[in-house]
Amino acid sequence: MKLPIRTFEEFRDVLSAYRLPRVILTALALDLFTVIGKKVWRLQDLAREMKVSERGLSILCRNLAMAGLLHKKGDVYSNSRLSATALNADDPAYRGNYLQLITNHANDWLRLADSVRSGEPLEKDELEDPDYRRRFTWAMHHRTLETAPVIAAQLSLKGAKTLLDLGGGPGTYAMAFLAKHPGLRATVCDRPAALEVAKEIAATHKAGARLSYLPLDFLSDNIPGPFDVIWYSNVLHIYSPEQNLGVFRRARAALSDGGRFIIQDAFLHDREGLYPEEASLFAVSMLLFTDSGNTYSVADTTAWLKQTGFATVKSVKMTKGREDWEGGILEAAVPPRPPKMRDRRRRSARSWRSRS
Ligand SMILES: C[S@@+](CC[C@H](N)C(=O)[O-])C[C@H]1O[C@@H](n2cnc3c(N)ncnc32)[C@H](O)[C@@H]1O
Repeated sequence: MKLPIRTFEEFRDVLSAYRLPRVILTALALDLFTVIGKKVWRLQDLAREMKVSERGLSILCRNLAMAGLLHKKGDVYSNSRLSATALNADDPAYRGNYLQLITNHANDWLRLADSVRSGEPLEKDELEDPDYRRRFTWAMHHRTLETAPVIAAQLSLKGAKTLLDLGGGPGTYAMAFLAKHPGLRATVCDRPAALEVAKEIAATHKAGARLSYLPLDFLSDNIPGPFDVIWYSNVLHIYSPEQNLGVFRRARAALSDGGRFIIQDAFLHDREGLYPEEASLFAVSMLLFTDSGNTYSVADTTAWLKQTGFATVKSVKMTKGREDWEGGILEAAVPPRPPKMRDRRRRSARSWRSRS
């Protein structure tokens, strides 16, 4: 996709970008990758098995092969490695909950005009429904299970003994940090239905024994601490600036002296808040699915962090292509306790000991 749009041809190309996603979503809706499984199929047999027209399937499969999701030899088709695993419901590596979430979102985006008119999300009550929360939490795991270890490998947690994964959902990031740092203990904080999923996932990892669970609503409840690091990933965009200010204050109070608050999100990087493109488009999802969410600039988020008592704020550099969002990590630090106070405490402890 070539942006910005200047000519009518470029405009036409950008609008036509809906086609390949529609082809893939249709294949998912027809369970095509699952039916193909690990077998090699003649198109004719596959059409019979799926009870669809040969003409329709041949055009669909040709396009999927063009996209690299199927292998084609004449009229014989098989799954690519990705399609045979992540897209195949019979494979243990199937990422069905995330595929369902993307499918639902693609359909919901067709109703964007409704949200633009009202300024409201499409559904109001879904978020608190435990069944929805459970499916969403699995989808989050399916989304980040490869990204989280890549991020954990690049992020320094030097000196940290305790980490809180605030809004950690399935705890995929917490698990990745625990796997990387054998001396670390982590807590994942979320709604009870999300924590049930986190427990199921942690039970399958050796490092899961070092994970604990904190059910609370961090918009209204205080966060018990102290923690050396609070990781706030993909939550900032759900809430308004005012709500995030409240969360930042609670996070600040739950951090130890010198502790770090690390935020991962779809940050905007330019003055007008247009780029990166992904971060701009993500705000549209927030309009469709949240009451007050949006995407925010590094500059605004830094100002909110300073306003809530963090001393230093820096962008953490990640290798290009090995990040969740482009330029997507900000690290804020609580000031270390002033040496004077430390000395005074040490002195008073000494004089107390000499008295006893
Ligand atoms: C988009 S998911 C991000 C999950 C994970 N941090 C990641 O980066 O993949 C946001 C998570 O924050 C949780 N969350 C949002 N608001 C919350 C609140 N007020 N109290 C507790 N959890 C909350 C949601 O339940 C959800 O699991």
